[in-house]
Amino acid sequence: MNHKQEIDWWRKSTVYQVYPKSFNDTTGRGTGDIRGLIGKLDYLQGLGIDIIWLQPVYVSPQNDNGYDVADYCRINPEFGTMDDFDELSAGARSRGMHLMLDIVVNHSSTEHPWFQESRKSKDNPYRDYYIWKDPAPGGGLPNNWQSKFGGTAWQYDETTGQYFLTLFDKTQADLNWENEKVREEVIKLMTFWAEKGVSGFRMDVINLISKNQDFPDDDGSISPGDGRKYYTDGPRVHEYIKLMHDRVFGRYGLVTVGEMSSTTMAHCIQYSNPEEREFSMTFNFHHLKVDYPNGQKWELMPYDFEALKVLFSEWQVGMRAGGGWNALFFNNHDQPRALSRFTHDGEYRTESAKLLATTLHGLQGTPYVFQGEEIGMPNPVWNDVSEFRDIESTNMYRILLEKGKSPEEAFHIICERSRDNSRTPMQWDDSDNAGFTTGTPWIKVDERYPEINVKAQLDDPNSVYNHYKKLIALRKKVQVIIDGAYERLDIGHPQVFAYARDNAKELLIVISNFSETDTVFTFEELFWSSKIDGKSSELLIGNAEHTPKLAQEIKLTPYASYMWVIR
Ligand code: GLC
Repeated sequence: MNHKQEIDWWRKSTVYQVYPKSFNDTTGRGTGDIRGLIGKLDYLQGLGIDIIWLQPVYVSPQNDNGYDVADYCRINPEFGTMDDFDELSAGARSRGMHLMLDIVVNHSSTEHPWFQESRKSKDNPYRDYYIWKDPAPGGGLPNNWQSKFGGTAWQYDETTGQYFLTLFDKTQADLNWENEKVREEVIKLMTFWAEKGVSGFRMDVINLISKNQDFPDDDGSISPGDGRKYYTDGPRVHEYIKLMHDRVFGRYGLVTVGEMSSTTMAHCIQYSNPEEREFSMTFNFHHLKVDYPNGQKWELMPYDFEALKVLFSEWQVGMRAGGGWNALFFNNHDQPRALSRFTHDGEYRTESAKLLATTLHGLQGTPYVFQGEEIGMPNPVWNDVSEFRDIESTNMYRILLEKGKSPEEAFHIICERSRDNSRTPMQWDDSDNAGFTTGTPWIKVDERYPEINVKAQLDDPNSVYNHYKKLIALRKKVQVIIDGAYERLDIGHPQVFAYARDNAKELLIVISNFSETDTVFTFEELFWSSKIDGKSSELLIGNAEHTPKLAQEIKLTPYASYMWVIR
């Protein structure tokens, strides 16, 4: 590829996220595999996907479904072989699609040989690959930092009488990026995959790699007070990312997306402005915390629609002004399904799925589609706590009970918040287990699969699938979707999210009714008369039977959503 010419090719792309364990099983083992994905490449090509983000398939004990890596350069036999991987890579390429791998280097599994060595003795050559601390004076934990999966972030290791840091599961030991040898190992493993011809990387929780070396106690002054202010967007993080860019991303012309936990816009601009030579784009999660009371994930409240709109709008305007680039998403493997969370997953499920898609795909950035989103998969129906598999969910259920919640309350919270909501098997057809496996699925299949599945939607022009296909194609044809400046139009409307994108040649208008009641949206007089009135408009996509003509006053049925272009 000539990278100079195609430097920004990913700005017009749509990424499809594959959670391999739940995608397609070809062995009957009950877990998805690489050959399963190979078998669906035509499906992804048909949808119009440009980039496939393949989540971790490396050797791993699977305590966090592959985000606990025990060997970065080998394929976990459960997922297949390196030959399978090479075939996948070639198959994607021959269909004009790119492969993006997940790189998990804030931590490794404690089963990684580096850690196995590291824990042996204080003078082991691998000791400084990880973060070891003495107990506090008088004994006890080195500080009060909490794991993101609940409980302390420190694990005591008897062999040497010290603690090691684990910001996630207790089997995910944080790597010590202060150690130059660790940085060189990371460059080596990324070079290995770049040499194999992958097109890019998704970098797992990459803004957590530089810790404040004083390891101070969190005084709790900023919620949630778990220590994150001492390692989020830390002191040397940009230096480390620039190093990776210079040695790998830039050299191989890779597309890169950094997953940024609890970040700020100023940092995301720096991470993704091309002049900084760091990443192509960033994920941030602020818009997915609008239903966390006081930042607390494990407490419930109805989501704050105004906050959702404000956050999207601020990031649209701010990232553009700073020359950064957003990864756009409502769903991923760590989030409940947006369809159930922000809209209606019953009577208006189809309208809702299309509304969320239109709203997101009209924004500036690179959209990500998480498997199943394109057919409108909602949160599954959970009947019992034993159905959950995710380590975070099972930990939190126990912790909620310890905090005094009743089993019913705790179950209800887990049902709303669990990452397993997005991890149930992909629904391919109405045969047993939704066509995902001939064996026993590792996690339950949602009982609504006979109605909600790929097969039922492929040939239906009004399906959610075909709506996504159309949106993905529009991005390739309508320039203003790529480069238009964003302006929020709905100020003050309690039900409607409306915005414009303007590149001086074309004007894009997106109007969405996020409610189950009819409503009216009215353009402000000045905007209407100067930008729309008297010009020709074309409806690019909509989701309601009766499509109104673009007028100053627009009637919207429940969950109606439209995108127009004015030229
Ligand atoms: C990221 C991943 C998540 C994982 C965590 C620890 O947030 O998306 O699934 O559990 O990092 O690696």
